[in-house]
Formats: sequence, structure tokens, C-alpha cells
Amino acid sequence: MKKKTAVYPGTFDPITFGHIDIVDRACYLFDHVIIAIAENPSKQPLFSVEERKDMIRESTRSIENVEVDAFEGLLVEYATLRNAVAIIRGLRAVTDFEYELQMALMNRNLRDKIATVFLMPHEEYIYLNSSIVKEVASFGEDVSRLVPEIVVRKLKETYSPGTHHSTRRL
Ligand code: COA
Repeated sequence: MKKKTAVYPGTFDPITFGHIDIVDRACYLFDHVIIAIAENPSKQPLFSVEERKDMIRESTRSIENVEVDAFEGLLVEYATLRNAVAIIRGLRAVTDFEYELQMALMNRNLRDKIATVFLMPHEEYIYLNSSIVKEVASFGEDVSRLVPEIVVRKLKETYSPGTHHSTRRL
């Protein structure tokens, strides 16, 4: 039987436990899951593509059928290139829905054969995103319940003592 590949695209700046929860679920459904870092011109990432790749590789090492890659350009083009039958997206709160629906419908317009599959992360991660993790870490707070160990380390290096934002009354 032909192996079924899915692409899980995102910015992953950095990867969180919420993303990993989705990867775990996708790996049950598909033979091969490609975590694909998208070069998004509208975002100014904190970490380089190579740094993000390393963090994702390290955090998903124990999952067998995962590959880590990066791309620029159209997602459906990349998915076609990789012979993927599906695009995985995580759906968290209702606020994700409209944006995700718009993207899924546009992608289907472009490539009818590639389905978007929405997966719900564990409730614990419903309100988690990468920006909120970076913000909290920039104040020197512990984020080890939200992101893998390697990400905790990279955030600590980036926001080393002296570079932390401070809180004061104005
Ligand atoms: N757990 C925790 N956080 C999650 C999450 C989960 N399960 N799923 C998404 N998020 C967060 C991300 O951390 C990110 O947070 P941030 O905005 O604070 O950085 C946010 O939700 C957005 O998610 P992300 O997965 O990074 O999506 P994106 O909106 O940055 O990227 C692409 C969407 C890459 C899929 C889209 O831009 C794309 O397809 N680009 C290629 C060009 C293209 O084809 N365009 C046409 C599309 S129709």
C-alpha cells in the first residue's frame, strides 16, 4: 500500500508542547509527517531556520515517522513536491477558526486533491502560542511547562541576564 504523507506547516518560532501534541496525533494517522518551517515574510522570527530545525529535531527525536524541513513559497506547491496527501493544522480556540477556514479553502481551490486535516491539541495547550512563550521568557520567567528542554535553553541564551525586560511602576 502507498505510504501516506502529511505536511505540518508553521513558523515554529519556537516549537512548543502544543505543536508537539499535534505532531504526535498526526503521526498516528499518517505514515510520514513532515514538519515544514515556512519562511513567512510577514513575521520577523527570533530564531533562524537552522536553529528552529535543530530545536524541532531534538524535541521530536523519539517519534519515528517525523521529518523536519523548511520551505519558501506556496504551501500547496511544497506539499505537491513532497507527495503529501494532507496538510495538518492545529485548531485551538474559536479564534483560530476563521483564519484557518480561509487558508484551507484557498489551498483546496489551488490543489483540490490535498486535504486540510484539523487536529485539536490537548486542552492544556489551547491558549498557548509561540509569541506568548517568548514574551514570558523575555522577563526571565520559567517556561519549562510550555516548551521542550532545548527550547528553554535557547530562550535562556537569547534572553540572558542583563537582556531581560524589567517590570516597574510608571
Ligand atoms: N500549539 C501552540 N501554538 C500553536 C499551535 C499549537 N498546536 N498551532 C499554532 N500555534 C501558534 C503558533 O505558535 C503561532 O504563534 P505566533 O503567531 O505567536 O508565532 C500561531 O499559532 C500561528 O501559527 P503557525 O502555525 O505558525 O501559522 P502561521 O500563521 O505563522 O503560518 C502558514 C501559517 C505557514 C501555514 C501559512 O502562512 C502558509 O501556508 N504560508 C505559505 C505561503 C502560502 O501558501 N500562502 C497561502 C496560504 S492560503
